[in-house]
Amino acid sequence: MDAFTTDLLAWYDTHRRSLPWRDTVTPYRTWISEVMLQQTRVDTVLPYFARFMSRFPTVERLADAEQDEVMSMWSGLGYYSRARNMHAAAKAVVALGAFPTTLKGVRALPGVGEYMAGAIGSIALGLDVAAVDGNLHRVLARIHRSTTDRKGAWSLAAAHLPAGRAGDYNQALMDLGSGTCKPRRAECPRCPVSAHCAAFAAGDVHKYPVKAKKKVTPRREAVCGVLRREGRVLIVRRPAAGLYGGMYELPGILLNTGEAPDVGLRRAFSERLGLTIAPGGPLGRVQHTLTHMKLTLHILDIPTPASATPTLSHYTDARWITPTEPGDIGISTLAAKALAVAAKPEPQRMLF
Ligand code: ADE
Repeated sequence: MDAFTTDLLAWYDTHRRSLPWRDTVTPYRTWISEVMLQQTRVDTVLPYFARFMSRFPTVERLADAEQDEVMSMWSGLGYYSRARNMHAAAKAVVALGAFPTTLKGVRALPGVGEYMAGAIGSIALGLDVAAVDGNLHRVLARIHRSTTDRKGAWSLAAAHLPAGRAGDYNQALMDLGSGTCKPRRAECPRCPVSAHCAAFAAGDVHKYPVKAKKKVTPRREAVCGVLRREGRVLIVRRPAAGLYGGMYELPGILLNTGEAPDVGLRRAFSERLGLTIAPGGPLGRVQHTLTHMKLTLHILDIPTPASATPTLSHYTDARWITPTEPGDIGISTLAAKALAVAAKPEPQRMLF
């Protein structure tokens, strides 16, 4: 073990964060925690992890659950394909008879990429493997004053990997990256490995990692409508595959370039529900940033109460709900924001 790793592990032994997936380690718990922690902060994950484990304490219970139940436990965490893949992976594990014990076996599960396989392999299976995410890339790039991209940081991580303690090593680097070696405000004076850090010595910690050229995130607009019936509003379930697959939302559509929201909404109701509607005024707008686009969602009122029943050709379910009490269904953060707008009292209409 080199001096860097020795100091790192000594620090981890006394300063490691106590986290529920660390205090009791099983492949199942490690895997679920890693799925949740992908793109989501530890503080946000904690209550979700606790609820999830009490509802689905074993992989068998998860595999047996209805998809709706899983999606509803995931509501608000975002990146819903993670939950769908995870559910499919639980079924795969049950079909295998046991959680895989090799890196290759873990990597073959739906939704498990290189990083997650390394994390599960090292933390829960005792394998001597690295796991490089954005945090580890940043820490290692600074230690080595390296301009490498994330892929290249895997060899830096492997170079220091201690035999028999890879899980602790990876988690020590995760803790260091999230608590000390932070992107904008690195706290070098309290870093346990600053003596080994080339960027610290050179005084240019914040130059690393070198940023990949930023891709411009496209902006798109979408529209959804609030159709009411007896105090309830219509929500629909998206097709299983694709963005927000299987989640519920107000009916709507992505607008074409230059298309006005009311025109788009008429198109959405006609193409997707077989209903002819006359959109009313705007109730509000919400902004949402996804990995691949920045979305502005217009929420329009539909003043005439629904008389006809929607046809399901595009959507897989339609139901009338009280916006404040949607029930046990999967609703994305974006759809929840729109529903909150719909929950406001019906606009006063002029009566002649
Ligand atoms: N981020 C991703 N995995 C983590 C873990 N096991 N502990 C803390 N933060 C993490």
